[in-house]
Amino acid sequence: MAGKPFYLEGNFAPVADEVSATDLQVEGEIPESLSGIFLRNGSNPMRGDPGHWFFGDGMLHGVRVEGGRASWYRNRYVDTAVRRGAETIRIREDGTVDHTDGVSNTHVVTHAGKILALVESSFPCEIDRELGTVGPHDFGGKLTTSFTAHPKFCPITGEMLAFGYRFLPPFLTYHRVSREGELVQSEVIEVPGPTMMHDFGVTENHIIFMDLPVCFKAENVASGMPYRWDPSYGARLGVMPRTGTNADVKWFEIEPCYVFHPMNSYERDGEVVMDAVRFDEVMSGSPLSDEPGKLHRFAIDLASGSVKEEALDDRPTEFPRVDPRREGLPNRYGYSVGLTSGKALGFEGLLKYDLETGQVESHDFGANTGPSEGVFVPIGEGEDEGVVMAYVYYGDRDESEFVLLDAQNFSADPIARVELPQRVPYGFHGSWSPDPS
Ligand SMILES: [Fe+2]
Repeated sequence: MAGKPFYLEGNFAPVADEVSATDLQVEGEIPESLSGIFLRNGSNPMRGDPGHWFFGDGMLHGVRVEGGRASWYRNRYVDTAVRRGAETIRIREDGTVDHTDGVSNTHVVTHAGKILALVESSFPCEIDRELGTVGPHDFGGKLTTSFTAHPKFCPITGEMLAFGYRFLPPFLTYHRVSREGELVQSEVIEVPGPTMMHDFGVTENHIIFMDLPVCFKAENVASGMPYRWDPSYGARLGVMPRTGTNADVKWFEIEPCYVFHPMNSYERDGEVVMDAVRFDEVMSGSPLSDEPGKLHRFAIDLASGSVKEEALDDRPTEFPRVDPRREGLPNRYGYSVGLTSGKALGFEGLLKYDLETGQVESHDFGANTGPSEGVFVPIGEGEDEGVVMAYVYYGDRDESEFVLLDAQNFSADPIARVELPQRVPYGFHGSWSPDPS
């Protein structure tokens, strides 16, 4: 008899309870200037096997930090209609897709004063600052498509740039949200077919769409995962001005590959550059069978139409992040989770890339431990001045901690380790939500 799927075992397994704890024990010092909530989302299936790691109910884990203290931890389900029993995919009688509500399990961000839990099949779901669910957010009725779990935040304009992809036409729609939180532009972008478009790139002036060969096939719906690797689809990067339309998109062919997550994208001497974790192939079977991805550069020459590709490092990695003050702008540093060689989901430590020197520093938390995504939080002025926050799981004692590393002293002992009242399962993405000023 087959064992449980990996996402129901070890620290991938869900936690059963919603817990609250106050005045957490801190070893070390939390910088006093930090005031906000560290939030992370993930798949925490509440009713047995959801069929895939990506499909469990969304659960948020948050630690509130203020005045050098960790004043609370709490974990809460995102209270969605799907969690209450609605189908994940809902087609209305007129054939249109109802995107109102999904599992909201992938990311959690803050924009224009709202915390939004995100999953790429649905509208954002608004969350309050105590992790309670407010409900679906459709930008005052203007959003009619799904909304990516990986919007980008322009440090210059304050805009939130996003898109929605889906398996029925229109397959791809671009969205631009103002600093104030108003959905000011939605544009249908033509692509040949429905592909799984998990993330995208944004530079100071451009959008980079990734139309890569993980394709929706209706005949695979019954298997639980309708998107599968199909290199016959081809692979293309599409570059569009940020205020452009479908007519402005220039498409550039690349070798078939997959990218779940860029680290960052920017412009340089007539090129649009995207540094991303590139996989040779994904979604042919279980995520465990994928060869791990590695950091890779795509440099698109807008004048000649050529795309130069370059491996930046040979370490297996995922969950790349950048200092949010450099999002869309040239960056020197990036942070990610290191993976055990040969295993796509063996989380081994945190990595810091210096893209100028090519050096990579690692922070290893010791045997039988593993971090979730490391989130850079600025303190001070310059790039890399700040801390990297993460939940870290200690397998020997089946417990997790909330850990802060000094980004500029990356491999040294953490500056603070915060005890948590329960383990935090490996999840997907998170962010720092500063207190409103
Ligand atoms: Fe993601």
